[in-house]
This record gives sequence, structure tokens and C-alpha cells, in this order.
Amino acid sequence: MIKTITCIGAGYVGGPTMAVMALKNPDIKFHIVDINQARIDAWMSDELPIYEPGLYEVVKEARGKNLFFSTDVKGAIKEADMIFISVNTPTKKYGIGKGRAADLKYVELCARQIAEYSENDKIVVEKSTLPVRTAQSIKKILKSTGSGVKFQVLSNPEFLAEGTAIDDLMKPDRVLIGGDQDEAGLAAIDQLVKVYNAWIPRERILTTNIWSSELSKLTANAFLAQRISSINAISALCEATGADVEEVAHAIGTDSRIGPKFLKSSVGFGGSCFQKDILNLVYLCEFFGLHEVARYWEQVVVMNDYQKTRFGSKIISTLFNTVSGKKIAFLGWAFKKDTNDTRESAAIYVADQLLQDEANIAVYDPQVPEDRMYMDMEELETRPMDVNKKRLTLCEDAYEACKDAHAIAIMTEWDEFKTLDWQRIFDNMKKPAFLFDGRLILDPKKLGEIGFEVYTLGKGK
Ligand code: UDX
Ligand code: UDX
Repeated sequence: MIKTITCIGAGYVGGPTMAVMALKNPDIKFHIVDINQARIDAWMSDELPIYEPGLYEVVKEARGKNLFFSTDVKGAIKEADMIFISVNTPTKKYGIGKGRAADLKYVELCARQIAEYSENDKIVVEKSTLPVRTAQSIKKILKSTGSGVKFQVLSNPEFLAEGTAIDDLMKPDRVLIGGDQDEAGLAAIDQLVKVYNAWIPRERILTTNIWSSELSKLTANAFLAQRISSINAISALCEATGADVEEVAHAIGTDSRIGPKFLKSSVGFGGSCFQKDILNLVYLCEFFGLHEVARYWEQVVVMNDYQKTRFGSKIISTLFNTVSGKKIAFLGWAFKKDTNDTRESAAIYVADQLLQDEANIAVYDPQVPEDRMYMDMEELETRPMDVNKKRLTLCEDAYEACKDAHAIAIMTEWDEFKTLDWQRIFDNMKKPAFLFDGRLILDPKKLGEIGFEVYTLGKGK
């Protein structure tokens, strides 16, 4: 019987996942631990560290009852029967596999801490997305303690999408649990199945061997991203031929074999997962000598980069081949709506491209704080920070960002952008007033009537 569950890593995945699990399993005690004190403090306050619709209500309900946040990693490991590893696994920025392989240093650190502090048998669950066969490394570290404590390692990848995390957790299409197929492994799988079965029907909980589970996560993200790159590739062709990418997406999406989801053309996918996981897959294929397979998947990322650059170039060429000294308003900085997460957001790369051309950019995003935006730019290391700060500013609202702008670029599909007073915005802009819709959320006809020169991605003239 599982009495206490600990999760290491209180991020976008660990936080919401454990909060929902705690809500649905009132008899199990949940500890979420993190090395970041400020993050833990925020989880215990009324202002959670991540913006996610419905999350606060869930946290409030369980917090202090059976859900606890702290930085006491050691104590929480000792007490747990089951430990989720949910630390981040960014793309490696150094050494072998740089720019492709996942950096597993945090995962390894967790495994070492678990090995060091554990006094009784435990089930260790990989929640972080990991390259296939990582469980092997974790097992090796856990086995080397010589303390006699036994560990079972399971893979339980997360499929939630940010912005809809609570819904995805409450009603998942499926839950996937991978483990060893021997007696002890199957028993451990069964324990985790019970935790999920508290609110998810048994037939939606899939169990597999551990390698299939690890690989399924990478494959799911690769397939999803591939659909976006496919429709984005077609968006370029639509513009060239006079077709309309939304009409094409609708026409193909009604074929039940294709389906309508993830066919929304955009300025490019972002987020912490898609690019990282595909690069990871590519690295894995290379490692096993499967070069054609590697090239195949790599193209999804190449197409995504092309889409971002294509959008930036379109802005520059439309503004008479230069944006130098011109004010460009960015509506949106997050990688999608309903999140304050900006990791790999297309806005970062398009901003970088326009700053190279000496544009001044005024950004408005309902959730992203200023320091996050500057950190995003700093990570690119393209130019000194003071230049970023001089040329890139964050505004309080959309009207301020668009005032006296030469052009507006819709970078994130926030709902509130649809209902802005576009006449007022037009009146306060430089003319001709250009508008570039990178998310296909605005009505080009109506805006055209106001007087805007509208470019909508994937809509040929
Ligand atoms: C998750 C997954 O774990 C990752 O593999 C997936 O690809 C993306 O989603 P996420 O929850 O989004 O990561 O990451 P993040 O929000 O950065 O949270 C990770 C947390 O782990 C951070 O709060 C960090 O402080 C914490 N951490 C990191 C530790 O507590 N210990 C460490 O050693 C390293
Ligand atoms: C993704 C997966 O969906 C989820 O299952 C996995 O657990 C983590 O990675 P996430 O990155 O949070 O989730 O959001 P998602 O909704 O998948 O969007 C990713 C990016 O693709 C965003 O930038 C989004 O704007 C873009 N996107 C999505 C499109 O451009 N078009 C679409 O049709 C869908």
C-alpha cells in the first residue's frame, strides 16, 4: 500500500500533476519538493509560480490536507513509498550531444539523492521526459548503494499540455505506465495503476514494458509536432498559390483518418517539449546508426525554424525591406495562450531576427513578466543585454504597445486579442498600418475595412 508519495521538481509538470493526484487520493500524503525556495514559497502562497487555468482551485483544496510543498528533499525522500522524478531535462548546452541530447544531470542528481537517503524499499517513477533506456542508468545508480534497499523503476510520461493541464489531468486520453515485466516490476506497476484508478477508468491506463513507455512519449510529441510542421509547410505553399491554409486544414481534417486536431498553422511551435524531444529522438537514432530515420525527424525542427524566420522576413520585406528604427508591436510572448511559459516561444526568435535588423519592439503579453522576457533574450547571447533592454520593452496593455507602431505582429493566440478595439489601435498607429497575424485569430476582412494592411499566415491573395 502506498501511503506517501514524493515528487522532486515543482515545475509545470510536477506541480499540477501532484495537485490533481492529491485531490483524487485523499488517503495518500503528497510531498512536492524543489531546490528552488522561491518557487516553493510561491506554491504555498495565493500567487502560484505557474499560470494555469483551474490550478489554484485544485491546489487550494488539497494544500495543507494531504499536499505539502517544501525544500526538504532528504526528509521527503525518506518518508516516501513512491518517488516521482519531475525535474527539467533541457537540451544539453555543452560537450557530447550539445544542442541535441537531453541534459540528464538533474535526473542523475535525483537518483543519487534517492540512493543516498532511502532507508526502505521504494518505487521510483520517471515523470520527466527522458531518452529511451534512461531507466537503466537510474537503476544502476540505485543499485549501487549496497544498503540492501530495493528499488523498482517505472516510466510514467506526462501528456498534459500547458494551458489545459488540469483538464488533461482530470480526463486524460490515456495514462501510460511502463515497468519491468517480472513479478516485482508488475507489482510496482499495479501500485501506480491504483493511484490513477482513483479517478481514471482502468481501460484508459495502459501498461507496457519500460522502453516502450519511454519511447512512446518521444514519439507522441514527435507526431504532434510533425503535424504542425506539415501544415506550416503547406501554409507557405498556400501563400504562393492563393489557397487558404485554414480551408485546406479543415478539408483534410474532416477525413477521419487524419482528424482535425493539431492542424492549426502558426508562426511555429514552441514550448519546453516538442523541439527538445525531437532533437532527443534524432540523437538517439544517430546513436544507433539510423541516419535516415534521424534526418526524417530532424526535418520537423528544420521546418519549424523556417516558419519562424519566414514570418520575420515577411515583416521586414513588407516594411519596405527595413525595420531599422521602426516600432513593431508584439501581441503575445508566451509560447501559447493561457500559460506564462515562454520556453522556445516563436516570439523570442522572431524578436531576435527583427532586433538584428535594428527594430524597436514593444511587447504586450497578459501573463509574461518583464524579467522573463529579458532572460529569454539573454539566453540567445546574440547581443549585449543593454541593447536588448534599449530596443525591447514590455508594455502594460495592447494599446500602449501598438501606439505609434509601424506594424503589429500577433505572436500568441490570447483570446483577449480578438476583442481589442481595433479601430482605436488603427487610429493611433503610423500609416500604412501593417498587421501580421501569426496565429490566424483575427478577421482580415474586417481589419482591412478599418484600413489595416493585413498579412495572415497561410492565406494567399
Ligand atoms: C517537465 C519535465 O520534467 C521535462 O522532462 C519535460 O520535458 C518538460 O516538463 P517542467 O516541469 O516543465 O519539466 O520543468 P520546470 O518547470 O523547469 O520544473 C522543474 C523543477 O525541478 C524546477 O522547479 C527546478 O527547480 C526543480 N529541480 C531541478 C529540482 O528540484 N532539483 C534539481 O536537481 C533540478
Ligand atoms: C505538448 C504536448 O501536447 C503534450 O502532450 C506534452 O505532454 C507536452 O508537450 P505543450 O507544449 O504544453 O504540450 O502544448 P501544445 O498544446 O502541444 O502546443 C505546443 C506548441 O504547438 C505551441 O506553441 C502551440 O501554439 C503550437 N501549436 C499547437 C500549433 O502551432 N498548432 C497546433 O495546431 C497546435
